Amino acid sequence: MYRTHNCGELSLKDIEKKVILSGWIQKIRNLGSLFFIDIRDYFGITQLIVSKKSVKENFSLEKEFLIKVEGKVVERLSKNYNIPTGEIEILVFHIDLLNSSLFPPFTIENKTDGNEEMRMIYRYLDIRRNPIKNNLIIRHNLVLETRNFLSKNGFLEIETPVLINDTPEGARSFVVPSRTHPNKFYALAQSPQLFKQLLMIGGIDKYFQIVKCFRDEDSRSDRQIEFTQIDCEMSFVEEHDVLVFFEYFIKHIFKKIKNIQLDSFPRISYSDAIKMYGTDSPDIRFSMSFVELNDLVKIKNISLLKEQEFVIGIKIKKCHDIHNNDKINCFLKTIENKNFFWIRYLHNQTLLSSNQNFLNEKILKIFVKYFKALPGDLLFFSYGKKIKTRKELGKIRLKIADFFNLKDPKIFKPLWITDLPLLKWEERSKKYKSVHHPFTSPKEEDIHLLEKCPKNIRSKSYDLIINGVEIGSGSIRIHNKNIQNLIFKHLGFSKREIESRFGFFIKAFEYGVPPHGGIAFGLDRLVNILEGNKNIKNFIAFPKNNYGKDLMINAPSLLEKEKLKELHFR
Ligand code: AMO
Repeated sequence: MYRTHNCGELSLKDIEKKVILSGWIQKIRNLGSLFFIDIRDYFGITQLIVSKKSVKENFSLEKEFLIKVEGKVVERLSKNYNIPTGEIEILVFHIDLLNSSLFPPFTIENKTDGNEEMRMIYRYLDIRRNPIKNNLIIRHNLVLETRNFLSKNGFLEIETPVLINDTPEGARSFVVPSRTHPNKFYALAQSPQLFKQLLMIGGIDKYFQIVKCFRDEDSRSDRQIEFTQIDCEMSFVEEHDVLVFFEYFIKHIFKKIKNIQLDSFPRISYSDAIKMYGTDSPDIRFSMSFVELNDLVKIKNISLLKEQEFVIGIKIKKCHDIHNNDKINCFLKTIENKNFFWIRYLHNQTLLSSNQNFLNEKILKIFVKYFKALPGDLLFFSYGKKIKTRKELGKIRLKIADFFNLKDPKIFKPLWITDLPLLKWEERSKKYKSVHHPFTSPKEEDIHLLEKCPKNIRSKSYDLIINGVEIGSGSIRIHNKNIQNLIFKHLGFSKREIESRFGFFIKAFEYGVPPHGGIAFGLDRLVNILEGNKNIKNFIAFPKNNYGKDLMINAPSLLEKEKLKELHFR
């Protein structure tokens, strides 16, 4: 028998019990005739008192050695109330070594000295640490809750193929050469998009899948080349039905996993989001929405600004209460740029600005009045070309929020972005590209723009944004063959290409496609945001690094010549 109890469960109620425990040695303190040892397993840590006499000769005890001990539960003299077993210890009378260990390359405790690279090479040791282990538990709970919730609501979990053909999802596909079909390739699915739509054509009413997706793109803190989606699709729904149901789903998850009751999710159109925040994934934990000032600077005849294509500003309330002057000045220096200026309204009623040359007292007062600024507030302005100005101020808005600690990881502010554009012009290929994917339905009232002004067509698509991160994305799909063909044509696919790439899909359109729509959530991103938005790697058992490498197994790697030959490479 390896254990009667685990290392996380014994307490004062077990005093005098004879127990057997197994675990890895986390710490050893040598007190002459005694050792104090902390052993750790999946469940926790228990302190052992081991007399040197009970340890056989030529039997050494080192960190991460795996031991089995038999002993008696006793009350501790100096208690540790930070851990559940902190009031007891085990007086050991027999100890067995189950396995020795090399000295670990980094400290296996909550706080570690291991850098990211080391921790990825020895990921199995990193998983022994609570922060990573607990993340995997939270992920498990999220997956379980998702499965239960969707199943209870009539969704059927169905697996779809991973080895498919290349599909236009926006990223590059990983390709897999076929041994049995020389010079032919599979592509790893970027998502189950087409298959979930075919399931709807197959009469499945509601589908979901917790599914691995593969995209050959650069990794970032919220992006991996191999990631997991909670992929969903529903028949006979309009946009509103999808948003209502999945808002209910996300609220349920937050309640179950975090015990947080979320407010209703605002719905903001894509064009309003760009106008108000300069981005389609705004963080609305802090307001600071853009105020357009073109009319004001013209009416007030403010030189330099009145000639600009676009002038906008934001107000940061009461920021002088949070930081001292020097800190604010240093910060403002880091974001100074010729197309920005700021005004500080100090508590002593003084007005300071970044540009004394053209911002005289009168102009400062005009802006302060317009923004209804109060002492302690900071105003920030940007001017120039419209698109660039919005984008730049959007970035500054986030930097300001970072500096003034406005991104509270315990606050969650989800919102829906709706009416995203259907198409965007890609200069490199001189073609239109889908903003979401080619199966997204345009708004009926905008279809007439297809010939004259395709970039102005709005789509029936939506993104779920939480705290500035895109957590989910979906759309109502085209279910009319002619419209699907028209969109393919506008994306620059020839008739032959349509036939060869999507022939099977177009054929399915001949058999009574139901109206349908859906969404996919990034599972790694969702769990990451639930836990404070650090890096999705922390929530993936074996992640890739930022260069797409698995440092533990050293993938990708070269293939032996024989294998290459089998795959028809010379
Ligand atoms: P989309 O490509 O927007 O839509 O992906 C849906 C969600 O998946 C997550 N995600 C990622 N997470 C981690 N690493 C990545 N590389 C990565 N790429 C995407 C994001 C994103 O919102 N088939 C459509 C969905 C649909 O229309 O139903 C799709 O895949 O959270």
